[in-house]
Amino acid sequence: MPTASGLINPHGGALVDRLAPGDEARAIRDRAGSLAAIDLSAKQSCDLEMIGVGAFSPLTGFMGQADCRSVCDSMTLASGEVWPIPILLAVDSARAPAVGEEVALYATAPSTGQRVLQGIMRVQEVFPHDKAREIPAVFRTEDPAHPGVKQVLDEGDTCLAGPVTVVQPCVDPDGPEAFLDHRMAPAQTRALFAERGWRTVAAFQTRNPIHRAHEYLCKCAQEICDGLLIHPLVGETKPGDIPAATRMACYRVLIDKYFVPERTALTVMPAAMRYAGPREAVLHALVRKNYGCTHFIVGRDHAGVGDYYGTYDAQNIFDELDPASVGITPLKFEHAAWCQTCEGMTSAKTCPHPGDQKIFLSGTKVREMLAAGRKPPMEFSRPEVAEELIGWAAGG
Ligand code: ADX
Repeated sequence: MPTASGLINPHGGALVDRLAPGDEARAIRDRAGSLAAIDLSAKQSCDLEMIGVGAFSPLTGFMGQADCRSVCDSMTLASGEVWPIPILLAVDSARAPAVGEEVALYATAPSTGQRVLQGIMRVQEVFPHDKAREIPAVFRTEDPAHPGVKQVLDEGDTCLAGPVTVVQPCVDPDGPEAFLDHRMAPAQTRALFAERGWRTVAAFQTRNPIHRAHEYLCKCAQEICDGLLIHPLVGETKPGDIPAATRMACYRVLIDKYFVPERTALTVMPAAMRYAGPREAVLHALVRKNYGCTHFIVGRDHAGVGDYYGTYDAQNIFDELDPASVGITPLKFEHAAWCQTCEGMTSAKTCPHPGDQKIFLSGTKVREMLAAGRKPPMEFSRPEVAEELIGWAAGG
């Protein structure tokens, strides 16, 4: 359902805003020193920013036990809205405050190592972290080698729930991964879409440089929507993923040369990756609805890692959900690759030629090529993007 401005409704109906305005933020800073301190992990700090700016609407804080159970068991919040992944603040039981207490939430700025007051929370509930319920439900595996599973296993065994107030959403504003010019909150992307007159907007989630296959999906989506939001995830990712600053340089050179500026926007999403495949695809879609997008690109093994998920599991999960409560439309794409006979990007839906005509390159293969100073072929990556990546691999 569109809002009065013609834009899609946020999840749950209203955009949450948990950012403290100037006076309130000053008052919070003044009293924070007297509150119990909680040090957030990188993932928790990302989650706090996502809640604060309304990207996780309708959440107003970290989840309580009823929501957590309902999310794990039936992919809905206790109130009935679709929600696929618990958003928890887990701490060591020894550090758990009492119900009713206000706690100060600190994050560490990666570029300086400084402890930053990010927000506060009124503790409404303290409950055991039910990892045995959460892990198999969310990740479809209990393998501790899975990076998302490991993240949860490493977390504390007690969860704190309650509404948050955020005084500093971006904890490292002077760091190389702040991207302040591109760090737009949902209210801001919505204003941007309204200003550009975009009624339909496709969102492209990515944690990689945009290669030819990604570009193909983006451009197919542009054919059917008014605008495209290239919306890379720039929060915590696993070691081995390409750093966000390098990726942003790749996105900029690519967009400058190969995209229509009036139809393309680039802003960042400060979320952490969980590598939860299908369930994370649903979260990614709901969040993009909050940012004002009407369509969401879901390709091959979206948000997957290793071979934990089937190629199209992250598409099929949408068939289990009520489209009206998801609200945003998934745009499902087959595995795309360059075909030498067709001389273009294709998929099994559009190209009859056998696999030996296709150029498939794995991430590992590309990293090996870059490390050896070799450019990935133009059928895989635009030369300008390949140059950026070679510069990064050479340490520059
Ligand atoms: S993800 O973790 O953000 O999903 P990635 O940045 O690789 O990883 O993918 C971004 C989007 O492009 C996802 O929707 C993914 O499914 C899709 N995708 C990546 N490569 C291909 C491909 N070759 N064919 C089709 N879809 C793809």
